[in-house]
Amino acid sequence: MEKQLNIGVLISGSGSNLQSILDACSAGKLKARVACVVSNRNDAYGLERARKAGIPALHLDHRAYSGREAYDEALVATLREFEVELVVLAGFMRIITGVLLEAFPMAVMNIHPALLPAFPGLHAQRQALEYGAKVAGCTVHFVDCGTDTGPIIMQSAVPVLEGDTDETLSARIQKEEHRIYPEAIRLYSEGLLAVDGRKVTIGA
Ligand code: GAR
Repeated sequence: MEKQLNIGVLISGSGSNLQSILDACSAGKLKARVACVVSNRNDAYGLERARKAGIPALHLDHRAYSGREAYDEALVATLREFEVELVVLAGFMRIITGVLLEAFPMAVMNIHPALLPAFPGLHAQRQALEYGAKVAGCTVHFVDCGTDTGPIIMQSAVPVLEGDTDETLSARIQKEEHRIYPEAIRLYSEGLLAVDGRKVTIGA
């Protein structure tokens, strides 16, 4: 059988991006399998989605650790146990440290609901609305030690419409998230992403 990339997905909430990845895997669109899903919150619905798909779903409570690095050491141990090769942050609302990044060099991806470098950090959709932006969107990027600053893999833009609320804009952005995150993972899994400094090029 063809070698499949082992992915570990980290979540904190609904897990709709996780679902889009699971769906792409089961449709045979990705040469990858989700080896485990880890949440820092016990009530994350994404854990339920993982269980329904027959994938190990683990709760690792950040409050049980002395600090961010100790927590990341536990994450690394868990991800290693499941032989994870690519770490996918999908609505994982934790700042990660060098401990995770050094264990998975250029192998941690994130999706952010804005066209980076605009509106990093929390509540990106609200930031875009309050700023009066006419275009919003989402970004898949490799994670580095900054907040939402790593090399950009893929972006998709959506319009901001008159009368948009946080909810309507977020829904429009999420539709694009669910399209580009599996696609970025596919490119990675097929060895088609090359990183040179800040620039990511997509091979043929
Ligand atoms: C997504 O919109 C993602 O872009 C965002 O959290 C949401 C998770 O949704 N991530 C961030 O804001 C990270 N800074 P999901 O749990 O349904 O995939």
